Amino acid sequence: MKILIIAGTGSGCALETATVMAEELTRLGHEVHVKNAKDSPSPEGYGAVFAGSGVRAGKWHKSLRSWMKQHAPALRGQPLAVRNPEKHTKEILAISDGVLRQLDLTPVSTGLFPGWFFAERFGVMERLILKLMKTPRGDFRDLDAIRTWTRETAGKLTPG
Ligand SMILES: Cc1cc2nc3c(=O)[nH]c(=O)nc-3n(C[C@H](O)[C@H](O)[C@H](O)COP(=O)(O)O)c2cc1C
Repeated sequence: MKILIIAGTGSGCALETATVMAEELTRLGHEVHVKNAKDSPSPEGYGAVFAGSGVRAGKWHKSLRSWMKQHAPALRGQPLAVRNPEKHTKEILAISDGVLRQLDLTPVSTGLFPGWFFAERFGVMERLILKLMKTPRGDFRDLDAIRTWTRETAGKLTPG
């Protein structure tokens, strides 16, 4: 199957994580394209879409929200999987479920995973917020969990 993995990102975490997912899907025999939502790629011609975003205060990146809104009619016709970071799980799920409901989109699967905190990869304001919140530095991604979720989700995809 031809699969699009689209990432909404600020520091590059969601995009780098998308490449890890792509490795897994490629290993399963799929043709995978990883794209940044801010480049507004078309979802046409894909059999399935994995949409992933870092979050800020519980919300997806604006680039991904805009992309989903713009392409909702096309996305309704194909399997969609959504991946978010895991902190503030309830709030993130409530907000992302709300966005998906508004767009009349029902993902085949939703995953929640932690991201990373490297001050130098964020902008000045975000760096300041991270400092004020005394956020510990590090890569908190559980790549095995992300790979497992990706494989399990791939198992739920049916060619459209
Ligand atoms: C200002 C700011 C707010 C954040 N808010 C949240 C949040 O509400 N929930 C969460 O799980 N992570 C939060 N994060 C963590 C980011 O989602 C995490 O660092 C992620 O790896 C960033 O990936 P991205 O740069 O690809 O979006 C926040 C980070 C920043 C800088």
